[in-house]
Amino acid sequence: MFRNSRNNKSVAKLAIWLISAVLAGQHFSATAQTAESPLATLTQNDLNVGQTLFQTHCARCHGMLGEGGEGANLTQARLRHAPDDIALISLIATGIPGTAMPGSWTLNETELLRLAGYVRALGELPAEVMPGDAAAGELVYQTKGNCASCHILDGAGNGVGPELSEVGRRRNADYLRRAVTNPDADQPRIATRQRGTINAFLTVRVVSEYGTYEGMRINEDEFSVQMRDITGAIYSFDKAKLISYEKGFGHSLMPGYGAVLSEQEVDDVVSYLMSLKGEV
Ligand code: HEC
Ligand code: HEC
Repeated sequence: MFRNSRNNKSVAKLAIWLISAVLAGQHFSATAQTAESPLATLTQNDLNVGQTLFQTHCARCHGMLGEGGEGANLTQARLRHAPDDIALISLIATGIPGTAMPGSWTLNETELLRLAGYVRALGELPAEVMPGDAAAGELVYQTKGNCASCHILDGAGNGVGPELSEVGRRRNADYLRRAVTNPDADQPRIATRQRGTINAFLTVRVVSEYGTYEGMRINEDEFSVQMRDITGAIYSFDKAKLISYEKGFGHSLMPGYGAVLSEQEVDDVVSYLMSLKGEV
C-alpha cells in the first residue's frame, strides 16, 4: 500500500528509529520517565505544527479539538491503545488493524513526533461534561429501548448491532446522541487493506419467492449472500434465484429513538453510554 519508494524508505527508517527508541528506553530505564520519552524535547512551536497536522489528517474522525466522533475521544489522560509515548507514535504510524483507524504512511518522523506530542497535550485538557445522569440512563437502556435485543453489553444481549461495552472510549457525546436519535446519520466503518474504509454494518434487503428479508450482511461472494436478521436468525441465499437484492447503504436497522425517548432520557442514556469504558 506504499505509494512510492520514498515512502517505503521512510517507513523503514521509522521502524529502525522506533526500535532504537525502545532500546534506548530500556537502557535508560533507571532515569526519570519524561527524560526517556522522544516527546520530552518538543517545543511549543512543534506542538502548534502538530495541531495543524492533526486538523489536516485526524480531525475528520477525532474532531477539531480531539473530542472524538467517528474516532476515539483523545482528551483522556490514559489512552487504551497507547500506554506510553513510543506506543503512541507507532500507533499513529501504523493504525489499529480491524478498526477505522488508518496508518499514516505519508508522514515523516518529525511530523509523527509533533502529532504525538499534540495528542498527549490533548490528554491534559479537562474531561467532557456529561449532559445527563448515567444511572438513570442505565435504567432507560434496560427498560425502555429494548436495546439489548440488538446490542451486547458486558456479555449480555444479542449482537446484530455493535458491542457497546467500550463505546464511551470510541465515541463522544454528540456522536452518541446522533447514534441514538438518528441512526442513519453515521454508520460505523472499518479500514480494510484492499478496499479502503468500508461500512462495517451493511444492511441488505432480499426478496425471494418466500418473502422479503432485511438484515445485516455477514458474507457475500459471486453466487450467494448470507445475512442475519434482527432476531439473530441467519439466512443464506442463492443469488441467481432472488427476485431482488438491495444493499441499503446509509440505512440502519436500528430504529431512531428521538420520538420514543424524552430529551432528558436521551441525555441520560448518552451519559450512560459515555460511562462505558470497559477495562482500562
Ligand atoms: C478514518 C477515521 C480516523 C482517522 C482519519 C484517524 N483515526 Fe485515530 N482512531 C479512529 C478510530 C475509529 C479509533 C478507535 C479504534 C478502536 O479502538 O476501536 C482511533 C483510535 C486512535 C487512537 C487510540 C485511542 C485510545 O484510546 O487508545 C489514537 C491515539 C488515534 N486514533 C490517533 C489518531 C491520529 C493522531 C490521527 C491522524 C494522524 C488519526 N487517529 C486519524 C479513527 C480514525
Ligand atoms: C433493531 C436493532 C437495534 C436496536 C433495538 C437498537 N440498536 Fe443500536 N444499533 C443497531 C445497529 C444495527 C447499529 C449499527 C450502526 C447503524 O446501523 O446505525 C447500532 C448502532 C448503535 C450505536 C453506535 C455504536 C457505534 O460504535 O457507532 C449506539 C451507541 C447504539 N446503537 C445504541 C443503542 C441504544 C442505546 C439502544 C436502545 C435505546 C439501541 N441502540 C437499540 C441496532 C439496534
